[in-house]
Amino acid sequence: MGNQIKWAERSSRLEASAIRNKLFDEPDILTFAAGKPESSAFPYMELVDVAKEVLEHKGQSALQYSSTDGIYELRKLIAEDRMKAWGVNTDPEHLMMLSGSQEGIEMSGKIFVDPGSKVIVENPSYLGAYTALRIYNPHWLTVGMDEHGMKMDELEDILQKNDDVRMIYTVPDFQNPTGVVMSVERRKQLAQLAAKYGVIVVEDRPYGDLCYDGDPYPAVKSFDEEGWVVTLGSFSKIFCPGFRLAWICAEPEILQKFNMAKQGSNLQVSTFDENLAIEWMKRYSLADRIKKLCDLYRSRRDTIVRCMEQYFPEEIAFNRPEGGFFTWLTLREDMDAREIANEAAMKLRVACIPGTPFYAYNDIHNNIRLNFSFINEETIEEGIRRLGTLLHEKYGC
Ligand SMILES: Cc1ncc(COP(=O)(O)O)c(C=O)c1O
Repeated sequence: MGNQIKWAERSSRLEASAIRNKLFDEPDILTFAAGKPESSAFPYMELVDVAKEVLEHKGQSALQYSSTDGIYELRKLIAEDRMKAWGVNTDPEHLMMLSGSQEGIEMSGKIFVDPGSKVIVENPSYLGAYTALRIYNPHWLTVGMDEHGMKMDELEDILQKNDDVRMIYTVPDFQNPTGVVMSVERRKQLAQLAAKYGVIVVEDRPYGDLCYDGDPYPAVKSFDEEGWVVTLGSFSKIFCPGFRLAWICAEPEILQKFNMAKQGSNLQVSTFDENLAIEWMKRYSLADRIKKLCDLYRSRRDTIVRCMEQYFPEEIAFNRPEGGFFTWLTLREDMDAREIANEAAMKLRVACIPGTPFYAYNDIHNNIRLNFSFINEETIEEGIRRLGTLLHEKYGC
């Protein structure tokens, strides 16, 4: 049957994600591969009571269709709670609910990208953004990063030379995959460059609140005077990803397009989940929850950094991320992290993600992404010890 099916041309660009590998779910695997939050930190007992309340008192409306923008009350809570904490003064009219920020990335492709359109990404960037946008067949333009995030001089150079860039996609906070955070100064510059060159910025911020050394950074959107920045926020890392609840903050004329795109794909987010989130936010404090998560993940971050210092060869470069879920290893240039990751999984039962698919052109092979949010400190220590043995072997020391 396979050779008789008439596939759409764009379906040839659908690729399985290197992250969603079944191997990583095997019970004896120590996994640094997942980008998941700690499951035991989900507020499931709180949600038992909240669900009971919602079903008993709002059962009929909570199980009914609702508006594509999302329930007004939830958007108001997000505006007053998260967006304010990110330095963005906004209101429910500038917000729309999404089924995960992943949907926001995919929809930005639908709305802004034609085949061959130029899209700027950090190099490396979030693998899931390539998965979402590749279907629209963009032409990637890549901007290098240093320890302060996307390099603004390189970005301006590209914008000067290309007058038809459709969008800039960025993960400014504790980036997936590198853990790097964009400096405040560069956030301002990015917002200014977007206005100067008339280019949309899609600012993807799932880790923005998970800052372990000081206060969260202001969103790029907080410096956006003309409305070129579209910000994506998500409940996935600060609440529970199973809700698939996220939001977009943008100018109403942009939101209108997202609204119509959502009508075509899935009409709306889950009314029931929205109601649970509203009721939970009325009873409990998201800020308190974020603080507890930061305490948990800070300790894991400290453990992985200590273990990498202890067990890895000195030549391996890695960062101490200020927040988020990931640290990023740079191996010697002639080393292939894909082979090392494969060997680690097969021989040592340790899973990690080689950096190659995070580069738009899959052309750099000597990085490894390590997640530290999903496993406890004991497992982190054992996993890094095992990886360290393999890396010492490779480095001949
Ligand atoms: C940078 C980035 N954007 C988006 C997502 C998807 O998040 P959501 O669960 O809100 O769709 C992830 C998930 O890992 C991510 O790391």
